[in-house]
Amino acid sequence: MSGKSMDNQWGTERVIIFDTTLRDGEQCPGATLNVDEKLAIARQLARLGVDVIEAGFAFASPGDFEAVTRVAKEVGTIDGPIVCSLARAIKADIKAAAEALKPAAKGRIHTFISTSDIHLEYQLKKSKAEVLAIAEEMVAYAKSFMDDVEFSTMDATRTDPEYLYQVLERAIAAGATTINIPDTVGYTTPSEFGALIKGIKENVPNIDRAIISVHGHNDIGLAVANFLEAVKNGARQLECAVNGIGERAGNTALEEIVMALHVRRQYFNPFLGRPAESEAPLTNIDTREIYRTSRLVSNLTGMLVQPNKAIVGANAFAHESGIHQDGILKNKLTYEIMDAESIGLTNNQIVLGKHSGRHAFSSRLQELGFNLSETELNKAFLRFKDLADKKKDISDWDLEAIVNDEIKTT
Ligand code: KIV
Ligand code: ZN
Repeated sequence: MSGKSMDNQWGTERVIIFDTTLRDGEQCPGATLNVDEKLAIARQLARLGVDVIEAGFAFASPGDFEAVTRVAKEVGTIDGPIVCSLARAIKADIKAAAEALKPAAKGRIHTFISTSDIHLEYQLKKSKAEVLAIAEEMVAYAKSFMDDVEFSTMDATRTDPEYLYQVLERAIAAGATTINIPDTVGYTTPSEFGALIKGIKENVPNIDRAIISVHGHNDIGLAVANFLEAVKNGARQLECAVNGIGERAGNTALEEIVMALHVRRQYFNPFLGRPAESEAPLTNIDTREIYRTSRLVSNLTGMLVQPNKAIVGANAFAHESGIHQDGILKNKLTYEIMDAESIGLTNNQIVLGKHSGRHAFSSRLQELGFNLSETELNKAFLRFKDLADKKKDISDWDLEAIVNDEIKTT
């Protein structure tokens, strides 16, 4: 899938989902993951069906280097996702990324440099001409290690578009197969972002040699809306993180953008020649794995999901008011635009209590993203029974507390 594009037939063409939970997602305060935790998330991301996993920033620390290598080796198999490492546009970073990615069947180096005036003046202290030359040279250097090279223009949405076009042109000429347009500070708006992507398509020579990618942050709550406009205008790779975790207000939430494209797939219909009524999915994501992935990421990072969070919040499929409950009982479509089952909430209706058996308990845990050994399961089940004697209904939060406690104490 690396290179120019995915299939051009409307039925099989897809928007590429690039997951950065393990890199940008992990960059939020308190969300640090160890190598085994990263590996567990990477395996689940592969089950979810993401196309690319950004496993870390190999040069940043020995732990990140090891995480990229382990994910590359254990998850980056020939049928698995592309495994990617971030690298500044600096030779030492690029070399470390290439080294860490060696075990991957399909590896990608993702190199970046800032392009906005404010970053050039205060952060890089370099002229536009210097940055242009570095971008070209470093993409070519990355290309000397592998064919699949992504190039990002950091702070693209605050960059002079004419200059942005020139940098992108040089990166493509040097061999970038994906060019990524980050809204680094979460500043853009949907119409502005859509126009930027359109401008890039129309003004960058040889743009059809690369996939246009977008990377979003949610500082003013527009990350998903910005991506929808980007897709309408030609973006074909979306960079996002599970539960929207990431720097400051976070990255574009994977589950939200994927379900927006899924629920409204006929409306967005971004592929040329695709019939308006087409039911074909727009991404490769198995949406039934979404809930499990969300719970796993929340448990391992310790980043709680707010109850009213779209798609994966505890209340996302709960109906409280009598009018809504009445409508739902008559026909679910009255107040539901998607099924709880479509994100993998199959056991939601089963209330766990003191009469529940081991099978219901274990299947609920699996739904929550836990794959326990037989011994761990037995111990957790005993604790569950103990709690169920004292408490009428056991919530998912009770179950997660039991299991987290069990895993920590065994
Ligand atoms: O937000 C950003 O600009 C980034 C880049 C490294 C892609 O995370
Ligand atoms: Zn970012």
